[in-house]
Amino acid sequence: MNLRIFELERFQSLYENTVPYNLTESGFHPFTLKELLTSEEIEKLTQTVLGYGQTNGSIPLRKRIAALYKGYSEDNVLVTNGSSEANFVACHSLLKKGDEVAIMVPNYMQVWGIVEEMGCTAIAYHLREENRWAVDLEELKKVVTPKTKMIAVCNPNNPTGYILTDEEMKEIVRLAESVGAWILADEIYRGAELSGKETPSFIGMYDKVIVNGGLSKAYALPGLRLGWLAGDTKTIADSWAYHDYTSITAGILSHEVGEIALRPEMRERIFARNRGMLRENLQAVEEWVKKYSHIIQFVPPQGGGMAFMHYTLDIKSTDLSDWLRKEKGIFIVAGDWYGMDKYIRIGIGAEKDYLLKGMDILTKALEERFGV
Ligand SMILES: Cc1ncc(COP(=O)(O)O)c(C=O)c1O
Repeated sequence: MNLRIFELERFQSLYENTVPYNLTESGFHPFTLKELLTSEEIEKLTQTVLGYGQTNGSIPLRKRIAALYKGYSEDNVLVTNGSSEANFVACHSLLKKGDEVAIMVPNYMQVWGIVEEMGCTAIAYHLREENRWAVDLEELKKVVTPKTKMIAVCNPNNPTGYILTDEEMKEIVRLAESVGAWILADEIYRGAELSGKETPSFIGMYDKVIVNGGLSKAYALPGLRLGWLAGDTKTIADSWAYHDYTSITAGILSHEVGEIALRPEMRERIFARNRGMLRENLQAVEEWVKKYSHIIQFVPPQGGGMAFMHYTLDIKSTDLSDWLRKEKGIFIVAGDWYGMDKYIRIGIGAEKDYLLKGMDILTKALEERFGV
């Protein structure tokens, strides 16, 4: 098996449900069904026939998704089991062994692992902390060659919360176009901006764009396992053929609830609730970091549910995460799982009291062990 262990997911899967304080969450505290829906909508859901449904996504759901992208119809959309299936299917539809793929780093490392397993070559281009996580376009220019078949972006970015400027997006498109490469744009955090200004999609900027979206992050509905691909009709049809092999379909109840969550007034309500949580929590985290600025540096995110911090303590990030979890009952993401030691990631989309309690435990632990 040529499969790199997907450490970010593996470690979270192992421990997130048993640790007393889990600060590894990368989205917002999820909604309950009761918080999200009216009692009439819930009653209607109980009448749902639990069949397969339309395997590429119900037509009403795909229409809702298509409405997020200018000029798109339901034929431009494939509904998947979470955005992770969307990433998997997109790579398999568009790439073959030997292809080169330029991947934004840091990033949710799923695409990296998939393309390596497929026998492609993954090549990093970076967001630079010294430039407030702006993308290094000079590096991307060097990395993109006629062998490049895909440029993978994550915008807004996991884990930095960086949002590409319009000029950066245009330059990425220009570079992709210059060699005929695909752009795989993971836009799962679109709608989770602190400013309230929704990040533009790559759709419509260039023909060879495939977008990955979903309800797990900006919509705070990861348990629905509802993601999608949006792209040209041929690529979507090819991806559907892969989806027949991977999961056949997302759950029918998720189709129903997802369609409601994507109504314009619901999107507004969901995003406003999440933005409020993010703003409040970020303020608390910024105050905390200020107190520890001699050991922790931090560029605040522009969106998403995470704080990605650089530290100078003499301990590897995996060891720090392990020690905090085993000895103090608090779980944070190690930068190592992004291939970036000396960083930690803390979820700031949690409920405020929970986050503050977790941060308090973290503070005491750091004081005890490192005397900071
Ligand atoms: C950037 C990014 N893309 C995709 C995924 C996978 O999302 P899902 O839970 O919908 O499969 C994640 C999950 O953390 C993510 O952060």
